[in-house]
Amino acid sequence: MLDRIERIRDEGRAAIAAAADAAAVEEARVRYLGRKAELTTILRGIGELPAAERGPVGKAGNEVRRELEGLVEEAAARHERSELDRRLAAEAIDVTLPGTPPVRLGHLHPLTRTRREIEDIFIGLGYRIAEGPEVEHDYYNFTALNHPPGHPARMLQDTFYVDPASLGDGVELYGSDGAPLTAPPGPRDVLLRTHTSPMQVRAMEDAEPPIFIIVPGRVYRRDSDATHTPMFSQVEGLAVGDGITLADLHGTLLTFARAVFGEERDVRIRPHFFPFTEPSVEVDVSCFRCGGSGELDRERCGLCKGTGWLEILGAGMVDPNVFGFVRDRGYDPDHVQGFAFGMGIERIAMLKHGVPDLRMFFENDVRMLEQFR
Ligand code: DAH
Repeated sequence: MLDRIERIRDEGRAAIAAAADAAAVEEARVRYLGRKAELTTILRGIGELPAAERGPVGKAGNEVRRELEGLVEEAAARHERSELDRRLAAEAIDVTLPGTPPVRLGHLHPLTRTRREIEDIFIGLGYRIAEGPEVEHDYYNFTALNHPPGHPARMLQDTFYVDPASLGDGVELYGSDGAPLTAPPGPRDVLLRTHTSPMQVRAMEDAEPPIFIIVPGRVYRRDSDATHTPMFSQVEGLAVGDGITLADLHGTLLTFARAVFGEERDVRIRPHFFPFTEPSVEVDVSCFRCGGSGELDRERCGLCKGTGWLEILGAGMVDPNVFGFVRDRGYDPDHVQGFAFGMGIERIAMLKHGVPDLRMFFENDVRMLEQFR
């Protein structure tokens, strides 16, 4: 019996020593120390042994059991530790590695960016942003801007008229004289606004002077070629207050032009005609490609066509006739004056980024748009 115990000890030692991992140690424990193990059976059967053998067998058996238990404990702890070490090493995160590249996010459309840039400049000058309806009354789009019905200047803009019946019920409509319509609206009383200028009159109806607003928004004309699309966007400006002069307009637009096209730019104003301003001007910025010389590498500058100037917008002093339509809101033409201007957002973006065809802004070809990240 003592030989058996000795053999169990040797086998047990060897098995525990040979166990490659914690699972193998556990297997050895069950095999040599478990409930059905040979040693356990021997110890359990001691009572049935001849009295003389009980002492030595019990002693040797218990010694071997304790030894093997110790070895199992030690081996299990060792394997657990090294397995943990291995896992930690394998699963370690190297925080110094570069991160996973972020998913490419979208970005703003170049026209949105240009609009926001223009807005930021005027907000910096103390202007407020106002927005008006794209479906507009003839009254605001033309009449109140000093284009009386039948005025030839109405024909300068190829207009989309809206069938008033398509507007549904409950819309309050005005005739071209500004009075609420009593008869059913006519086919020319409602239109898609041809410019953002109608908001000048709407804004003055809503607030007494002084007023400093810009009006960004979409406008519509029956036009389509490389520099005209049926829908495009404008930013209107209106400044009315004490003693505002053409010099203020010049200074404001100089600040604007330098913010958009660079600090070295100059602006010039040329006489022009708009029905709602008097005097009216067109405003040019000195060419940022050739620096205003009209020449680039001894050749004619292609951007300004050799003139050194780029037309950017129309402007002028608000015509007293326009104030006449809002006289009772505090705009007595004998006492107030101010300036207005209107620019095309696409035109500013085309000039600034060298976009050759206006239609490219609306085709949404990503190869074009991606260049404006
Ligand atoms: N509304 C004009 C257009 O669409 C642009 C314009 C010119 C606006 C002169 C103005 C202005 O406010 O004063 O062509």
